[in-house]
Amino acid sequence: MKGLKKVTVDREAIRKRLKSLKNLPTMPGVFQEINKSIQNPETTAEDIAKIISSDQALSAKILRIVNSVLYGFPRRISNIRHALIILGFDVVKGLLLSSSVFDIMLARGFLGLWQHSIGCAISAGVIAKKLNMPDPEEVFVAALLHDLGKVIIKLELPEESLLIEQKVIDNQISIYEAEKDILGFTHATVGKWLCQEWYLPNKLAYPITYHHRPNLSEFAIQSTAVVHVADSLVRGIGFGFAGDNFVPKIDNRAWDILGISDPLLEEIIREIDEKLDSAENIYPENGPDI
Ligand SMILES: [Fe+2]
Ligand SMILES: [Fe+2]
Repeated sequence: MKGLKKVTVDREAIRKRLKSLKNLPTMPGVFQEINKSIQNPETTAEDIAKIISSDQALSAKILRIVNSVLYGFPRRISNIRHALIILGFDVVKGLLLSSSVFDIMLARGFLGLWQHSIGCAISAGVIAKKLNMPDPEEVFVAALLHDLGKVIIKLELPEESLLIEQKVIDNQISIYEAEKDILGFTHATVGKWLCQEWYLPNKLAYPITYHHRPNLSEFAIQSTAVVHVADSLVRGIGFGFAGDNFVPKIDNRAWDILGISDPLLEEIIREIDEKLDSAENIYPENGPDI
């Protein structure tokens, strides 16, 4: 490729580097405390609620995401204990991670990716609810985290990131393809490593890992298909920026699994549009306009 130097990437070395990172730079201390506590069989939901609530700023952020983005109106869930009861521990754990990842996105100016993640989560939540899936909140959180590998690649591999961005522009290919070319692996694989590091349950890990290749997912097949479709829809709608301007073709198997009729698709898109319009209230103080 013209103008770009050849970079050899040692996949194993990068994997080790990401693993030795242990946690994202701003990963809250409470996350480690929770991971320790849940290994003790005597730990109760009450104990976990206390640990999370001890970080007030973090608790407020999680409740804000839940109430304004997930449910679309304020204070449906008033505290962390309530969130744990209604949403379950896995969803709250995913929200804790999302909050840290979003802090990094905002601090580093990855606003397009932040919007894309929120847009994908909103879209996935709408689809999951319309399909009467049993745990739309889980699908929502998986979508919130689906591209977290991109954040890590940007942070940990800045030089390669620039090459990836350039390759997207020069070759008119998707960021997924450019990552594969430059790194030999993609943000979906990095997401998979991180899910393993953080002991995220399979119902979150599979949609994150297979959101570009839903046909390969052997678990949480429906949730994976929803996150895949939501990713394409939110790109098609033009909300946020996922690293390229392509709207990936929806995988046939994912489409078959969901079985969305044309009228239902219209309804879904209408509702996603409305929700994205009102998503402004989740922006931080003095945040950017959409
Ligand atoms: Fe992705
Ligand atoms: Fe995405």
